[in-house]
Amino acid sequence: MPETVTDLNPPPRLLLGPGPINADPRVLRAMSMPILGQFDPVFTGYMDETMGLLRRLYQTDNKWAFLVNGTGRAGIEAILTSLIAPGDRVLVPVFGRFGHLLCEIAARSGGDVRHIEAEWGTVFTPDQLEDAIKKHRPRVVALVHGDTSTTMAQPLDEIGAICRAHEALLYVDATATLGGMEVAVDAWQLDAVSAGLQKCLSGPPGSSPVTFNERVADAVNQRKHIEAGIEPGGFVAGNGPRIQSNYFDLPMLMDYWSEQRLNHHTEATSMLYAARECARIVLAEGVADCVTRHALTSTALTTGLRAMDLELFGDQAHKMAGVTGVVIPKSVDGEAVRSALLNDYGIEIGTSFGPLKGRVWRIGTMGYNCRKQNVLICLAALEATLRQQGFAAKSGASVDAALAVYRQAGQ
Ligand SMILES: Cc1ncc(COP(=O)(O)O)c(C=O)c1O
Repeated sequence: MPETVTDLNPPPRLLLGPGPINADPRVLRAMSMPILGQFDPVFTGYMDETMGLLRRLYQTDNKWAFLVNGTGRAGIEAILTSLIAPGDRVLVPVFGRFGHLLCEIAARSGGDVRHIEAEWGTVFTPDQLEDAIKKHRPRVVALVHGDTSTTMAQPLDEIGAICRAHEALLYVDATATLGGMEVAVDAWQLDAVSAGLQKCLSGPPGSSPVTFNERVADAVNQRKHIEAGIEPGGFVAGNGPRIQSNYFDLPMLMDYWSEQRLNHHTEATSMLYAARECARIVLAEGVADCVTRHALTSTALTTGLRAMDLELFGDQAHKMAGVTGVVIPKSVDGEAVRSALLNDYGIEIGTSFGPLKGRVWRIGTMGYNCRKQNVLICLAALEATLRQQGFAAKSGASVDAALAVYRQAGQ
């Protein structure tokens, strides 16, 4: 190995996979701001501002809205591992890979995990979910909102009320939907939700915004134990079993993010700058306008793909706005197409896993990348690449069809 390692010089790429996406340059700029001490009043001011921004993003009055350091699954793990005590019954409705991830994290937390499965490419009806809740009587229901592995989005507006009626707490994984689809935490009675920056929020991976209500706060506080070295005098620990993870211990994180500012980890300064800027950018556009932009982009892209005679994957009535599944034509080598897009155009699109491996490409149009320009570039490049592979699509039809969608929307 040479003694000197060269400068980092990543090639320019247009990241149109299921995430990460190209971060908004404003977010990267925010990340280059000077590091401050974590208890510097200016920095704790930024922490408070970030909490306020996250509440607006999540459409909630919850006191608790803060960042868990780590990628999307850090937020998932902090909530599930703090909430699920050994032996607690957990129901996970699985409609893709990330439902299985919730099962795995719930099981590692010691939960008595029950799951139901929907065929990949479909979601559950509220009745199916209610029947499963009645049958399994879970303390916690853990549900993915948009599962990028299948490109499907589970409607949530009725599920919170169903869970309340059956005295279950509802956790939702909105890693791939927050900022791109509506996530109305209070209106939908979602008890706890987590997300990631690297999808519809236009940031890099590495910070997970979470929010949860007092029902969840009360539940996890029953398990509150504080590290001996930082325990305030007179502290009385909760009756429940100690949360197995120190890093993902919500009660300790709550003390760190509240007025108490009890020392826990060293906050990931640059990631907090990033998350704060991501939230500011979405709120400056307006959550509703961001959601509309993602929906329009999805319509333009899918219209263009259909005009190319490509088949879309899954139940289109429940497709996520930010990711589109495309059935790989039988005559085409899917990996050769992905390589050509990367090498000839610098465009990344996603492959699939599990039952969809080799059958479906996934095209992401999320956050900063969710733009007309990118839809047209992607369609043109895909059409040319498919032609090289012997798949005959009517020349220019897809770009024309997508453009027509934008024209109709006045763009
Ligand atoms: C729906 C969903 N949940 C969870 C995750 C896991 O997030 P991360 O890879 O950031 O840990 C992803 C990542 O793709 C996702 O799409």
